[in-house]
Amino acid sequence: MIIKEIRKNIYAIITNDWDRRLFDELIPLPQGTSYNSYFLKDEKNVLIDSSDPRTEEKLFKGIEELKIEKIDYIVSNHSEQDHSGIIPELLKKFENAKVIASEKGKEFIKSLLLIPEDRIITIRDGEKLNIGDKTLEFIYTPFVHWPETILTYEIKNKVLFPCDLFGSHLATSRIWASENDFLLGAKRYYAEIMMPFRNHIKKYLERLKNYEIEIIAPSHGPVHDIPEVIIDAYNEWVSDNVRNCVIIPYVSMHGSIKKAVDYFVKILIDKGIEVKPFNLTETDLGELAINLVDSATIVLGSPTVLSGPHPYILYTLYLFKILRPKTKFISLIGSFLWGTNMLKYIEDMIKGFDVEIIEPVIFKGHPTKEVFEKIEILAERIYQKHKKLNLI
Ligand code: FEO
Repeated sequence: MIIKEIRKNIYAIITNDWDRRLFDELIPLPQGTSYNSYFLKDEKNVLIDSSDPRTEEKLFKGIEELKIEKIDYIVSNHSEQDHSGIIPELLKKFENAKVIASEKGKEFIKSLLLIPEDRIITIRDGEKLNIGDKTLEFIYTPFVHWPETILTYEIKNKVLFPCDLFGSHLATSRIWASENDFLLGAKRYYAEIMMPFRNHIKKYLERLKNYEIEIIAPSHGPVHDIPEVIIDAYNEWVSDNVRNCVIIPYVSMHGSIKKAVDYFVKILIDKGIEVKPFNLTETDLGELAINLVDSATIVLGSPTVLSGPHPYILYTLYLFKILRPKTKFISLIGSFLWGTNMLKYIEDMIKGFDVEIIEPVIFKGHPTKEVFEKIEILAERIYQKHKKLNLI
């Protein structure tokens, strides 16, 4: 547990979860994570977000170390249990404390944590709360990450507490973002948690332009002492801009797809296109997600399993469907022996997305000279598409 006064009488209580390797039983965490609470000491004492139940003991140690004898308000920016999970225990210890949440937040914490209604105060979008020397403003931001989410802004010190937004899954002993190499971790976090809500975030970034922000204090990862760095990164990630990059998630059961993909990779590199092949039997799905953020093109490589693609390819397509990246083009290098319906699966999975299918290369058995020629044509088509978008 780390305690740091980030502004006068505003303390970060950071509980690192060094060894956690999976979040929501789904998301890989190669660098662990942290759960950050913030204590604002004033006439009315406020705790912003709690912590994950995994680190309850650490949070209470922080409370003890800060000699906190009274908490008047606990702000629940977001009801997911990694931030709200210890609120019931805090309410037992601080008998007069009330929880502040959005209307939907109230519904969620009542349901998830069984918090009694009379311990919850709801606030409206834009509502302010004076706590003495400081004033809090609550900003409704549905879907970063759940529909009940709010951000809290402390007006006097110009500190934004955005909970999940602008977070990173990174356990670190250095609390300031400027002391960490955090951007790749933040991009991974964006890819896995925030990317599905890209259009919402665009609107919120616009709205946040109306606020002077000197510190962004998220509830995961380092505290942003130079807010422009993470705000600029988010502006780029949520924009429609894509990179001259082809990602190739593939599976090869008997080597044919591997041969075809290796050739394809070489041709793309020769054309000056960045390439990221991902052997799905070995890859870290987080790495794949990071590259989905801004790569212009995806080419799947799959053998036919029964009549469809390999299940790992279907899983990748499902990830694509839920993460909603801004990919412009998609294609397939596929193999079969006695019949295939692979393309149909892919078309069905991407229905409704603004992504163009480039004619795939689907071949029988081992790749032949003609197959390699078709792969060259596919690479040239991608090159022309990227060129048309001025990516090359
Ligand atoms: Fe960090 Fe959506 O919880």
